[in-house]
Amino acid sequence: MEKTPRGHYIVAIDGVSGSGKSSTAKTVARLLGILHLDTGSMYRAVTFLAQERGLDPSQIQEIRAMVNDLEWHADPSGRLTVEGRDLSLEIRTAAVNNAVSDYARIPEVRHALVPVQRRIGMRQSAVVEGRDMATVVFPDARFKYFLSASPEVRAQRRVRELQGLGLPGNYTDVLKNLSERDSKDSGRAHSPLMKAPDAEEIDTSGLTFEGQVAIIVDRIQNALKHG
Ligand code: DC
Repeated sequence: MEKTPRGHYIVAIDGVSGSGKSSTAKTVARLLGILHLDTGSMYRAVTFLAQERGLDPSQIQEIRAMVNDLEWHADPSGRLTVEGRDLSLEIRTAAVNNAVSDYARIPEVRHALVPVQRRIGMRQSAVVEGRDMATVVFPDARFKYFLSASPEVRAQRRVRELQGLGLPGNYTDVLKNLSERDSKDSGRAHSPLMKAPDAEEIDTSGLTFEGQVAIIVDRIQNALKHG
């Protein structure tokens, strides 16, 4: 096991999709001057690579061989590459969105990714973001947050985001898609989405983005100041 650097700490942020988790984690990391690791993007990259190789989620042996062979690299800037490729655009397509829960629930995929996530997080202080950061990957994280928001607020946010990208977004369809993803992520047998008992829950439904970032950053800065 590698030794962690002096003053090293982990901020674990878990939560449902549409809770504002990703943008919050990214901004918190920037304000604290530490690495941001978006583990959802790793599950998305595995999904993209499996699809590129024509592997569907039932082809466990082939997927296992693929994930065990992948080389991951996280720059101090937070840029993540796999096999030397930056897949940040490819992993946001509808094909990946619709299939990622089915690949993320495969235990072989999780067994391969968790040690990579730990290795990246142990080398430097980091805000690690996902579904099982506080429960499974970094149970000893110094700071743990669980972001939630009502399904209606999350669907409204997603529709606005789609409109901002010039894409059509139907509120009813978006709400249905979010609910389906939630129940897949929370209902799976392996590392389901769950609040760690010692994580602080922040309901972002009535908060502004700046407000939710400030709650987290202020608490961490205060705690770090007082040792
Ligand atoms: O946060 P996101 O929407 O980019 O996550 C993509 C998918 O990966 C989503 O289905 C949940 C899953 N995921 C996971 O199972 N464990 C994580 N640590 C992060 C994401």
